[in-house]
Amino acid sequence: MKKFPETFPVLKTERLILRSIEDSDITRLAELANDPDISRGLSSMPYPYTLDTAKEWVIKCRQDYLDNEVLHMVISDKSDKVFMGMVDLDMCHAHNHATAGYWIAKPYWSQGYVPEALRAVMQFAFESLEVHRINAVHLHTNPASGRVLQKVGMLHEGIRRQHFLKNGYYYDLHDWGILREEFLELMITENS
Ligand SMILES: CC(C)(COP(=O)(O)OP(=O)(O)OC[C@H]1O[C@@H](n2cnc3c(N)ncnc32)[C@H](O)[C@@H]1OP(=O)(O)O)[C@@H](O)C(=O)NCCC(=O)NCCS
Repeated sequence: MKKFPETFPVLKTERLILRSIEDSDITRLAELANDPDISRGLSSMPYPYTLDTAKEWVIKCRQDYLDNEVLHMVISDKSDKVFMGMVDLDMCHAHNHATAGYWIAKPYWSQGYVPEALRAVMQFAFESLEVHRINAVHLHTNPASGRVLQKVGMLHEGIRRQHFLKNGYYYDLHDWGILREEFLELMITENS
């Protein structure tokens, strides 16, 4: 796996720009992330989500990039670059794979934005970082996330029964993954 480039990547899709998080995103991040329907699907997203939480998150995103550990990309609108959500790619150097996480604010749900963003980040990881495999997981209560992973070509690889304890309740965890060769093959098929 290659190191992150010195300059933070900017990825463009049909409707989106994926970019680094900026101080100017803090207010909007705090507003949009302060939603129990967002934190419900995510293992580490706090609720309530305050301005201080957002400030700390921006610092962490920058440090994770410098440490070559996690690529945190803002999903933003192509026309006005306004913050909509995030895609994160957590690198596992020992095994040359990465784990994807993602969320988008409620006004943008069900418009195909996360699949569009995730596909671009996966392409960057496979082609530029030379990652061998990308994984993702979701709770059994979050089938919309499974649909996102299906749309980007991941395979459903199994279910870890009652693996995840959250608020006193055990959740099944669904495992998904895709290999570089599978992703590149899909891209060739889609473009032909
Ligand atoms: C889950 C989430 C990432 C989806 O992002 P999105 O950009 O809205 O994704 P899509 O536009 O592809 O829409 C979701 C898809 O799931 C489907 N879906 C929604 N609810 C569903 C359900 N209960 N069962 C099955 N499919 C469902 C939708 O119909 C849609 O598929 P379609 O386009 O084939 O109709 C977004 O809702 C979100 O950020 N949720 C909160 C945070 C979160 O859960 N993150 C994932 C953690 S693993």
